[in-house]
Amino acid sequence: MSDERTGRPAAAQRSADGGEPRLRPFAADDLGDLREVCLRTGDLGADGSALTAWPDLVGDVYAAPYAVADPGLVTVVELDLRVVGYVIGCRDTLAFEAWCAEHWWPALRERYPAPGPDASAFDAPLLRQVHTAPVEERPYLATHPSHLHVDLLPVAQGLGLGRRLIDHVLGRLRDAGSPGVHLGVGAANTRAVGFYARLGLRPLVEPEPGATSYVLGRSFAADGDAPA
Ligand SMILES: CC(C)(COP(=O)(O)OP(=O)(O)OC[C@H]1O[C@@H](n2cnc3c(N)ncnc32)[C@H](O)[C@@H]1OP(=O)(O)O)[C@@H](O)C(=O)NCCC(=O)NCCS
Repeated sequence: MSDERTGRPAAAQRSADGGEPRLRPFAADDLGDLREVCLRTGDLGADGSALTAWPDLVGDVYAAPYAVADPGLVTVVELDLRVVGYVIGCRDTLAFEAWCAEHWWPALRERYPAPGPDASAFDAPLLRQVHTAPVEERPYLATHPSHLHVDLLPVAQGLGLGRRLIDHVLGRLRDAGSPGVHLGVGAANTRAVGFYARLGLRPLVEPEPGATSYVLGRSFAADGDAPA
């Protein structure tokens, strides 16, 4: 048996603990696992659990709202009955932010305090996001209105699953009529930066010297009929 895309032998798709990961649609009871994966990859791709006072916070900001707002855009990786990775996204970033402002941040403000002097460097920007939900003018949204996040636990990394997840969500966004997608990545997350470059995502904003993050994107118009 071989993987349908890469032609690699199926053994090459085995996870580090020997199981066979599979992609499947999101189910409502996956939300907790999404938050867990988000936390365990939340420190520039590494485990953020030692850095936060609220283990659910990073997933409540960067994973759960996508799954609630548009579950059809979520694909998860399941391994041994556990979710070990996901891709999430939204078709229209400004519409998603408006949805969050109305339906998501108000409940979170009841759960999490405004950032104070005691908040860790990990928690402070997340708490700021919850309490101020800043909306910045971003010129690239006209051409790249969609965005996505992809995260895999170490056990599922390096098996071609990241590419397959991205292929899935790009196909869906393109089918939904999106002209392009963008995402943000920490400059220090060199693994992800290399991965996105390999998948054809290019800087949409010229990074300033010493930039700590990049905005990358891909236009579907340039893809012709192929989503990846
Ligand atoms: C970044 C991440 C999504 C990549 O997924 P992955 O499953 O490990 O990557 P894949 O095995 O699918 O790699 C896909 C392709 O990218 C290439 N690639 C992966 N990492 C690369 C790197 N650092 N530099 C260059 N190429 C890279 C692979 O060789 C492969 O190429 P091919 O398909 O042409 O053979 C995954 O490692 C991850 O979730 N990391 C932790 C969380 C994270 O950092 N998320 C991104 C936050 S912005």
